[in-house]
Amino acid sequence: MKSVVILISGRGSNMEALLAAVARGELPVRVAAVISNRPDAKGLETAAQQGIATAVVDHKAFAGRELFDAAMAECIDAHAPDLVVLAGFMRILSEGFVRHYEGRLLNIHPSLLPSFPGLHTHERALAEGVRIHGCTVHFVTPALDHGPVVVQAAVPVLDGDDEATLAARVLAQEHVVYPLAVRWFAEGRLRLESGRVLLDAERALPAPLISP
Ligand code: GAR
Repeated sequence: MKSVVILISGRGSNMEALLAAVARGELPVRVAAVISNRPDAKGLETAAQQGIATAVVDHKAFAGRELFDAAMAECIDAHAPDLVVLAGFMRILSEGFVRHYEGRLLNIHPSLLPSFPGLHTHERALAEGVRIHGCTVHFVTPALDHGPVVVQAAVPVLDGDDEATLAARVLAQEHVVYPLAVRWFAEGRLRLESGRVLLDAERALPAPLISP
């Protein structure tokens, strides 16, 4: 069974969705550890309560990005994971770190990339007046919120939406697609070819994953 290390910075609801899928027997991975760059990340408690090993690599304790990334990589590699899952991990990663985990580093981002990389995605989607918004799971490259897309879920933007209602609609889909993407990885069904992700066998997605 493939082993996974999950990196978080805060609430950890995507991490919870992954742990819940594992507990239900729908995600054939072993979560070796949950690591946060913030000691106060709420998700750390949740993971510990479920008997998962947790660790903190506090970015504030390091003089620069490269030093922090090296310490983080050491902490991750102590668990020798097959896959590293960024679940609301809010740090820009150095090129060396990303290259070290090439092909085995996934991120989830709350927009339909390549639209709205970076922060405040829901506010920006509302300001642009887009009618469709969503989330993206992708392999990580050194560029921010960029890389070969594994799966996306789209949601409508409704007239009465504010940032909170839109964020909640997107987050519900994040909790669906992240376990799905990790399952595909664990089953060895994802292939990277010329910078694109190919999924072996039938896609079997609920059609285009649009839901209100
Ligand atoms: C999620 O919406 C995730 O997509 C986003 O942070 C939130 C974390 O929530 N990630 C990014 O913006 C990465 N660029 P969570 O801690 O409850 O999973």
